[in-house]
Amino acid sequence: MLILLFCFTTFYGVSNSAFYDSFHGTVISTEDMKQHMKRNTTFWCINDIAPCDPNEGRRIDGSCNNLEHPTRGATHTPFYRVLPATYDEDFQPKKTKSGKEMPLARQLRTHLLSEGRIPSQRFTQLATHFFVFLPADIISAQDTVNFIMWKPYCCLPKGKTDRDCTPNKVPDDDPVFRHSDIRCLNMTRPISFQSSGCIKNDTVPERIVSSTPLFDLSNIYGTIEESAIKKARKFERGLLKYDVENGRIWPPGTKTSINLCLLNQKPAETRCHDTPEAATNTVLGINLFSIWLWRYHNLIANELANLNPCWSDDRLFYTARDINIATVLQIFYYEFLPLMLGRENMVRDGVISSSSGFRDLYNSNVLPQLSLEFPFVLRWVHTMQEGNLKFYDKHGHYLRQFPLVNLTLRTGFLAVDNNIDYITQGSFRQASANVDYVVDFDMAGIGLGPHQRAFDILTNDIAKNRYFGFQPYVKYKQFCNQKEYTSFDDLSNEIDPERIELLKEIYEHVEDIDLLAGIWMEKLIKGGSVPSTFYCLVVEQLIRNMISDRHWYERSNRPNAFTLEQLQEIRKVTVSRLLCDVADGVMEIQPHGFLRAGHK
Ligand SMILES: *[C@@H]1O[C@H](CO)[C@@H](O)[C@H](O)[C@H]1NC(C)=O
Ligand SMILES: *[C@@H]1O[C@H](CO)[C@@H](O)[C@H](O)[C@H]1NC(C)=O
Ligand SMILES: *[C@@H]1O[C@H](CO)[C@@H](O)[C@H](O)[C@H]1NC(C)=O
Ligand SMILES: *[C@@H]1O[C@H](CO)[C@@H](O)[C@H](O)[C@H]1NC(C)=O
Repeated sequence: MLILLFCFTTFYGVSNSAFYDSFHGTVISTEDMKQHMKRNTTFWCINDIAPCDPNEGRRIDGSCNNLEHPTRGATHTPFYRVLPATYDEDFQPKKTKSGKEMPLARQLRTHLLSEGRIPSQRFTQLATHFFVFLPADIISAQDTVNFIMWKPYCCLPKGKTDRDCTPNKVPDDDPVFRHSDIRCLNMTRPISFQSSGCIKNDTVPERIVSSTPLFDLSNIYGTIEESAIKKARKFERGLLKYDVENGRIWPPGTKTSINLCLLNQKPAETRCHDTPEAATNTVLGINLFSIWLWRYHNLIANELANLNPCWSDDRLFYTARDINIATVLQIFYYEFLPLMLGRENMVRDGVISSSSGFRDLYNSNVLPQLSLEFPFVLRWVHTMQEGNLKFYDKHGHYLRQFPLVNLTLRTGFLAVDNNIDYITQGSFRQASANVDYVVDFDMAGIGLGPHQRAFDILTNDIAKNRYFGFQPYVKYKQFCNQKEYTSFDDLSNEIDPERIELLKEIYEHVEDIDLLAGIWMEKLIKGGSVPSTFYCLVVEQLIRNMISDRHWYERSNRPNAFTLEQLQEIRKVTVSRLLCDVADGVMEIQPHGFLRAGHK
């Protein structure tokens, strides 16, 4: 009773919300609003935002992060571009400098990257799982759903009549597909504010951020406050709902057969998650980290509830979420990226701090936005993905292998035959693919598993490069280095001679090189394991993400900021600690789970 006397409840007043134009970020007139209602375009084109309260914590939908620009940081808002777009007429991919068609995307892929399987001596599968999980916080798989489910005819005659169909031609002499009748790989034009009816079609196509643009675990908590997260909360001790099945804890399962988990092999495989974001049922790396972080939220919430019996469910929930987000950001910025980008490089360039105290570089003039280039260049990681998933028991004995691509939209597989235990063990015992110029057979041939007959993820990446309208690779090099590149030989500091020769064979002019193709061919940076232009464009966004996020976890001056002692505890988390706490059957693990055991 005594305790109850001191308890108080926080009310989140939601009233007087205003409607904003998602693209422009401005308050919209009643007349325009009516137009959108009539055209049924409110979902993508309008943000409904409650008035900002400077003392409020991070909103699920990302709004009010920047108090001057309430929609920026929210879902359904535009990307910005590091360099302005370049297109041919009618926003078709640009031609070569001399006015010809660009070389076929598939031809480039097979010419520049070899297929094979070479194990990394440094990184584990866990590193690539994490690398796949992170972008799922900020972007979505809509464009893939588009050609698999909504427009499944792009390689058929009907596809020729639909402007959205942009399939990739396979040449007759393709080194792999010449042994089959496959001459076309499905693809659709990226969804944009234009294709969604928000802005005029005669303007440069602008992509929609369908998640929230900052790293805030949208893939766990969703992006729409009311409906989704309320359905997922238990409204008790700050917990998320969960199921217990065979002694394991899972995100809540769906009872209805919605269009997810399409590859569950019934009747054995039935598990499919009903979470705010469908991401939790997509590709394996995302599914695994989602399950772990779902559990981690509840672990934190329970601890908090024990320590603070007075706290309301709301306060427990939002505090647990804040700690969960901080945990992932700490692992991302301070554990994972230093291995990839090099710790010294990151300290030098101001991405991470060399001290463990607070770091407050918030700048309200920098908008919380994503560059279109950032998630795009992350696709380089497809060259690092290993297609064979290896299963191990908890003593480290190898059991068997299974194709990774066959687990997309197949959450049910994890919940049978102790599969999640064996896959978890494998994640930190198995090597990722080497960081080199070789791509895994499955990524390059059947990247979407049974969802498509054939699919080369990397051909798709090059094609998207062009539909996004990115400037030539050398323009980005110039942005990064302030140097001009006018001949292939100007690249000799960044690219080995044999790969410059490959580029010369397939591109007519150095300015024809596609951004991603250049990144594929680059040497790795000093002190890190990534190509130099990848480094440059990733660092550009990482800094923006940190300084534009009013709720950044290292800040001392933000609503509900951590104390210094609390921040010191956050700084201690590692991915291995996370797995010990919430993964299935992990009794022992190397201290650095992203690195192979035995490496130093
Ligand atoms: C309206 O738009 C939503 C979201 O894009 C869509 O799901 C729905 O089917 C549309 N309704 C009609 C009547 O077209
Ligand atoms: C632009 O074109 C698409 C078809 O590609 C159409 O669905 C959309 O409504 C158009 N938008 C506007 C604003 O005219
Ligand atoms: C994986 O999927 C392919 C179809 O893409 C199928 O032929 C193969 O048998 C599957 N492998 C396993 C082990 O299920
Ligand atoms: C393209 O998509 C259609 C419909 O899903 C499918 O039948 C066809 O096999 C796909 N093409 C390839 C090469 O996978």
